[in-house]
Amino acid sequence: PSSRVSLTVNGTRRTVTVDNRTSLLDLLREHFDLTGSKKGCNAGACGACTVLVDGQRVNSCLTLAVRLEDAEVTTIEGLADGDRLHPLQQAFIDEDAFQCGYCTPGQIVSGVGCIQEGHTGSPEEIREWMSGNICRCGCYVKIVRAVEQTVARK
Ligand code: FES
Ligand code: FES
Repeated sequence: PSSRVSLTVNGTRRTVTVDNRTSLLDLLREHFDLTGSKKGCNAGACGACTVLVDGQRVNSCLTLAVRLEDAEVTTIEGLADGDRLHPLQQAFIDEDAFQCGYCTPGQIVSGVGCIQEGHTGSPEEIREWMSGNICRCGCYVKIVRAVEQTVARK
């Protein structure tokens, strides 16, 4: 069975009819062509698919699209202001906080959530609250620095 759902993605209202089993990640990638959010494990273990739903970080691979009626979703594509990068995107570049980049969209969206939640008191605290985002390239030190830099510049 399928259902109709209306939600806002990066400020744009969207209405679609999707199979009830469709994850938010597949809705974004396959229906809306927003391929920034990555499918790593598709099982809630890696964080590559992290987006914000009503301001909260979620693993979009574990979230059913049809449950998001009237939700506000922000993906990596929605963070920049035109050509101006979000401060955390800029910090990832400044700190060289990625190698292959596969985890990076999820890391950045998660970092935005972490900063909004105020879990940035120390490198250890950032590490703990970013621990749902795995980086197989091992860029953790620089990812933490990018989050710290963003907080310091605010
Ligand atoms: Fe969603 Fe890994 S793809 S947590
Ligand atoms: Fe390669 Fe994180 S930069 S997985």
